[in-house]
Amino acid sequence: MNWTASALHPLFGVRLTGPRLDLPLGDLDKVDLIGAVETHGLVVIPNQPLDDDRLVALAEHLGEIDRVGRKVNIDRALVFRVSNIAEDGSILPVEDRMFQINIANQLWHTDSTYVRPGSKFSLLHARICPAEGGNTEFCDTRVACERLDPAMRERIESLIARHSLRHSRRKAGFNGWSEQELATLDNVPRQIVQRHEPSGRTALCLASHIGEIIGMGDDEAATLLETLIESATRPELIYTHHWAVGDLLIWDNRCTMHRAMPFDHRTQKRDLRTLRVTDSEALLPVV
Ligand code: OGA
Ligand code: MN
Repeated sequence: MNWTASALHPLFGVRLTGPRLDLPLGDLDKVDLIGAVETHGLVVIPNQPLDDDRLVALAEHLGEIDRVGRKVNIDRALVFRVSNIAEDGSILPVEDRMFQINIANQLWHTDSTYVRPGSKFSLLHARICPAEGGNTEFCDTRVACERLDPAMRERIESLIARHSLRHSRRKAGFNGWSEQELATLDNVPRQIVQRHEPSGRTALCLASHIGEIIGMGDDEAATLLETLIESATRPELIYTHHWAVGDLLIWDNRCTMHRAMPFDHRTQKRDLRTLRVTDSEALLPVV
């Protein structure tokens, strides 16, 4: 492998330079790439000239491409546009439905925790970046878990939270679901403290998608969730990615959280493409 690795942040993340991800990966490179994502939580690979087809080909190297989490994807394409640009190249108005739904990306979250199975990896590739703003922030929830004080750790050890897209969108001010869409939205229970098998470390499974903690009143649950997310995202625990065209980010949703940062979406264009890789192991029976 002719890749060079350098740290992104003292606590997690790695930058890889050198890979040609527009070409088919050899078996060893696949293993190395997956290993880097699972070890470091987030991998940044600059200068990747990938179109949608190549992005799909790359994701197929990493596992099974996720279709389940795409229920709200209106065009049901494999590659999803995280963009404020319409098909004709103009900037989408703020009233646009996709725009409204995507605003919730600005809340700290983990992708696809609201579906079963979830997504183990997400890929996000930059095609057009705003001149200012529109960064993406990340934290490592293994680090967050390891830094909890023992009393808190014990308190949350066996708690189960319910995740639904409905909750994160409500928190961001969006309630415009049709009856049909509502019927497809699941409310998935997940342990807050989870073992991240590939690294053997324990991680927190937190997200704005959480609307309920089983056996706890709503106010207490909301306060606890806020406390946990706040402690996981203290400034010294965050890596901020400033996008450049061609950047490819791949992260492990089982041990990170992220959020989009605002930019001037009325005058600036931002066009990223994403797809997700299914957490198939999560479907295996626990023995
Ligand atoms: C996403 C997401 C962040 C961003 O696509 O899941 O959270 O900065 N995107 O656009
Ligand atoms: Mn996301």
